[in-house]
Amino acid sequence: MSARVAMVTGVAGFVGSHLVERLLDEDYEVHGMDIADAATSHNLDDVRDREGFHYTRLDIRDAEAVRAWYRPEADVLFHLASIVGVRYYMEDPLALVDIVVGGTRNLLGLAAEHDTRLLFSSTSEIYGKNPAVPWAEDADRVLGPTSVDRWSYSSSKAVCEHMIYGMSRVKDLRFSIVRFFNVYGPRQNPIYVVSQSVYKALRGEPPLLYDTGQQTRCFTYVEDVIDGILAAATQPDALGEVFNLGNDRESTMAEAVAEVCKAAGIEAPPLVFDTEKEYGAVYEDIPRRIPGVEKARKVLGWQATTSLADGVRQTVEWAREHPWYLADRG
Ligand SMILES: NC(=O)c1ccc[n+]([C@@H]2O[C@H](COP(=O)([O-])OP(=O)(O)OC[C@H]3O[C@@H](n4cnc5c(N)ncnc54)[C@H](O)[C@@H]3O)[C@@H](O)[C@H]2O)c1
Repeated sequence: MSARVAMVTGVAGFVGSHLVERLLDEDYEVHGMDIADAATSHNLDDVRDREGFHYTRLDIRDAEAVRAWYRPEADVLFHLASIVGVRYYMEDPLALVDIVVGGTRNLLGLAAEHDTRLLFSSTSEIYGKNPAVPWAEDADRVLGPTSVDRWSYSSSKAVCEHMIYGMSRVKDLRFSIVRFFNVYGPRQNPIYVVSQSVYKALRGEPPLLYDTGQQTRCFTYVEDVIDGILAAATQPDALGEVFNLGNDRESTMAEAVAEVCKAAGIEAPPLVFDTEKEYGAVYEDIPRRIPGVEKARKVLGWQATTSLADGVRQTVEWAREHPWYLADRG
């Protein structure tokens, strides 16, 4: 019998699938749930049959199903399930609120009732387009108008954070919040800068460069993020706190795409994707996105250590070895 028990929502996702591997390596008993079919979800190929892994397919919007799945004896609940990706929440604005806000709401009462420690995965989108980078965890949120769809994800995650802080005040909910900054690595859905470029480059297609490519991000390798998640979910000092989990090295989108092309051995220039033409006025980009990293360093003893070049190289190597990842996605 394992000593520790963890629940993971969104376990078949990119971050969830890396987290569950690490938890099993550390001898946790893991109860994972996701809306995805475990039998066909390649992200679970390496853990599906591992001892100590239990999978339940359910929709986090279904409060009764969530209650039935919940393990009161668990030491920690990692809440990762979410709609992720600008395209998805532009396509289905109601599902964004139902899944992110409603799904989180379904878990919070249970976590408080059973005194389970909660790790909530939030986002750097919380800070919006605040120009005063780097952003400390208590930096202001600067968002555009509600007519711009992009801000709905930031607002939905912020509502979750408000619910969590509120529940900690009135129900003594024990929690930590982590805000991820452009996580990338093996198995990521190929709709983000690095993963999409890897996917396209290895299929012999030119990668896309969004607009000028001069927007910056702090790309953070998934294994670094897993270290940060585990520290935030278990260390006593992290209770009741929120942490940025991001690399402090700022890169332009163009640099990231060039790094992928180098690792993949591609010389063709990227194609420019004009977001104004493709998405219209409901889209707005963020010019710079940089985490303040002092708090995570001080409290968690955590910092991202994988360089963009190393992380991209590992991602490209992994993709080369996994033909399912490079298959036509329609
Ligand atoms: N990857 C990043 O750069 C990044 C950045 C900021 C925040 N995050 C947050 O990290 C978490 C994990 O993100 P990810 O990159 O692994 O995304 P992902 O899309 O790979 O994983 C999300 C998982 O949630 C599941 N899910 C969606 N709707 C569901 C529902 N109704 N019921 C149950 N499960 C459902 C999906 O099937 C998927 O497996 C999310 O909460 C996301 O908001 C990620």
